[in-house]
Amino acid sequence: MEQQQTKKTILSGIKPTGTLTLGSYLGAIKNWVELANDYECYYMLADMHAITVRQDPAELRRRTLEQLAQYIAAGLDPEKNTIFIQSHVPQHAELSWVLSCYAMFGEMTRMTQFKDKSAKNADNINVGLFTYPVLMAADILIYNADLVPVGDDQRQHVEITRDIAQRFNSIYGDVFTLPEAYVPKTGARVMSLQYPENKMSKSEEDTGGCVSILDKPEDIMRRFKRAVTDSGSEIRFDAKEKPGISNLIQILSACTGRAFSEIESDFSGKGYGDFKLAVGEAVVETLRPVREEAEKLLADKTYLETVYRDGAARAQRRAQRLLSKVYKKVGFVAL
Ligand code: TYM
Repeated sequence: MEQQQTKKTILSGIKPTGTLTLGSYLGAIKNWVELANDYECYYMLADMHAITVRQDPAELRRRTLEQLAQYIAAGLDPEKNTIFIQSHVPQHAELSWVLSCYAMFGEMTRMTQFKDKSAKNADNINVGLFTYPVLMAADILIYNADLVPVGDDQRQHVEITRDIAQRFNSIYGDVFTLPEAYVPKTGARVMSLQYPENKMSKSEEDTGGCVSILDKPEDIMRRFKRAVTDSGSEIRFDAKEKPGISNLIQILSACTGRAFSEIESDFSGKGYGDFKLAVGEAVVETLRPVREEAEKLLADKTYLETVYRDGAARAQRRAQRLLSKVYKKVGFVAL
């Protein structure tokens, strides 16, 4: 226990709003697995973030447990990582309130995700959607996380977390560690298979543009066979001119560890059809063990409960230390 305190800390999370996508797997979770030996790692199921968009309550509960099974199946060992459900650690929401008094209205209005989501949910632009980055800052700062492994789209939220932390520190002294986003070189921005100019996202499950990590091999292959490609016939990475093929190259590289240039030369002279099949097969093989293990784990609800209970207890202990410090700094009377 004591020894762990000298390690740097990592925190990340994913909203349980659907089955994990190939995007969140390659952009986030796959990269978390290797970090466990060198860092003290906290991974949450961001259920409180999920409700900024309307959720069916029974579905949200089911998806949260499913996502927990998927975290473990993807290789996150609950003995080596603290895995917890965000709403089980009330200190996040408590710190979020304090931080909201040090976050500026103007800076929140500049958040790209807020702009996108409020355009998509025009009938429900709730205050939670607006203050979402403050809760995310609390998630990160309450563990004094050094690194935040995320995909490219979350970079801006980590930057605003630093700004809020810096503002607080400049008033009260060194309370918070300034975190850094840790974005993978390949897989940081997996694009839709149908609209390669947009990121692959859970909301796109019906269009065939999204692959989820629980999809059956035949469904994955069908989606890759139908993936949108570009004019021309060359298999070459060029995100601007050839967004479809470049996305597939990126996916193949993230699944196999092969460099873009190696992929380009392997497929030189071959057609798009063959290439799409090869990418589909690599994805099937990458996801197969995860899906099989997740299905097994989901059948064992008692085990999953032990994991999240234990995770919540560990996370609460650590989070309370920082929350008490913050309450003292701002001048609340200790109980
Ligand atoms: P969320 O749930 O939208 O996505 C979870 C993680 O997956 C990454 N990701 C992708 N990476 C590459 N290509 C894609 N197509 C793709 N789609 C998603 C995201 O960048 C993210 O890393 N606000 C966060 C959840 C969160 C969080 C936190 C993260 C809440 N609190 C604290 C880190 C630290 C979110 O909505 O992620």
